[in-house]
Amino acid sequence: MPSLKPYINLKIQRCAVDTNARIKTSVLSNQNNKLNASTLYAAVYGHPIRHSASPAMQNAGIAEQRLNWRYLAFDVLPEQLDEALNGAKAMRYVGLNLTVPHKLLALNWVDIVDPAAREWGAVNTIRFEGQMEDERWIPVGQADDPTHFKQIRSIGFNTDADAILRSIDEDLGLPLKGRTCILLGAGGAGRVAALKLASTGIKRLHLINRTQSKAKAVARDIQDKFPEVETSLEYPLKGTPVDLMLNATSLGLKADDPLPLNLESIDLKNVSHAYDMIYQPSQTPFLRKAEQAGCRTANGLGMLLYQGTAALEIWTGQIAPTSTMRKALHEHVYGKLSKH
Ligand code: ATR
Repeated sequence: MPSLKPYINLKIQRCAVDTNARIKTSVLSNQNNKLNASTLYAAVYGHPIRHSASPAMQNAGIAEQRLNWRYLAFDVLPEQLDEALNGAKAMRYVGLNLTVPHKLLALNWVDIVDPAAREWGAVNTIRFEGQMEDERWIPVGQADDPTHFKQIRSIGFNTDADAILRSIDEDLGLPLKGRTCILLGAGGAGRVAALKLASTGIKRLHLINRTQSKAKAVARDIQDKFPEVETSLEYPLKGTPVDLMLNATSLGLKADDPLPLNLESIDLKNVSHAYDMIYQPSQTPFLRKAEQAGCRTANGLGMLLYQGTAALEIWTGQIAPTSTMRKALHEHVYGKLSKH
C-alpha cells in the first residue's frame, strides 16, 4: 500500500470533502432503526470510558438524522490503542472519538493531521476516508458503498478547542471582541482556553493560577501569537468591570474543594458573566456565588455538546441536530427530571 504520509499537513475540509458524495448506504433502510448488515459504526475510545456521555448524545443525533449508524464506546488500554485504531480502520468505521488518555497518542497514528489538531497537539476526532476507483477520497460515512474502497486513510481533528468559544457564544450570549476576561487555571484546559479567548480579539486577559510559572508560560505564548492582547498575572484593580470570569481549574469537581478564586481580590458584583468548564456538579460553588452576585452563568456541558456536534458534522458533512443532542446529553448527565 502506498505511503499516505505525503498528505500530512494538507488542509482538510471539515465537512463535505466531496460534494458529489451522497449519503446512501448510511440512510436508514427501515423505520425501526434496526441494526442490519449495512449498519456503519463510530465509537469513542478511552480508559476509563464507562461514564462517557458520548454514546447517548451521538446516537440521539444519528437517529434524528435517520442514519443507519451506531455509536459505541470501548475501554481501550493505551498499549493497545494502535491495534484498536487499526481494527476500526480495517472494519471501515465512519470515525472515532478519543478521550483520556488517547488524544496525544493518536496524533502520531493518523495519516493526516488537520491544522487545529496540530496546533493543540491532540486529536479527539478521527474521520476515515476511502479511495474510489477514480482516485477520489470520500468520507466513509458519505459513500454510496464503503465496501468498494481501494484503501482507507485517517484524518485527525480537534473539536475541543472551538467548542469553548461556541459554548461561551451560545450559552452566555457574549461576543468576546474587546472584552476584559479573568481566566482561573493554566493547566491543559486553561492553556487552550487562554489561547482561544485571545484569538477572538479580547482586550485584556488576567491569568490566575496557583503555580505562577505556568500562567507566565501561557502569557508568553499569548504575547507571541496575539501581541495586541494585554495580559496580566494579577486580578484587575478593584472596581474594574470584568466581562467574563472562566474557571478552567479542577476546583469544584469535589464537594469540599475550595473556591478557585480569591474573593478578597475580586468582587463578583463587578463581573457580568461567569463560565465553569466543570459540568458535574451542574452548579459548582463558583457558579453559585457568581449567580448570587448577579452574573449570567453557564457550565461546561456546552463544551461537551459542541465538540460532539462538530465531530458528527465532520463525519456526515451535514449540520448536526444540536437541540436533540443537547437534550440527550442533559438527560444522560443530570437525569430526566433535573431542570439543569
Ligand atoms: P486539565 O488538563 O484538566 O487542565 P491540569 O493540567 O492538571 O488539568 O490543570 C489543573 C488546573 O487546576 C491547574 O490550573 C491547577 O493549578 P496548578 O497549575 O497550580 O497545579 C489547578 N488546580 C488543581 N488543584 C488545585 C488546588 N488545590 N488549588 C489551586 N489550583 C488547583
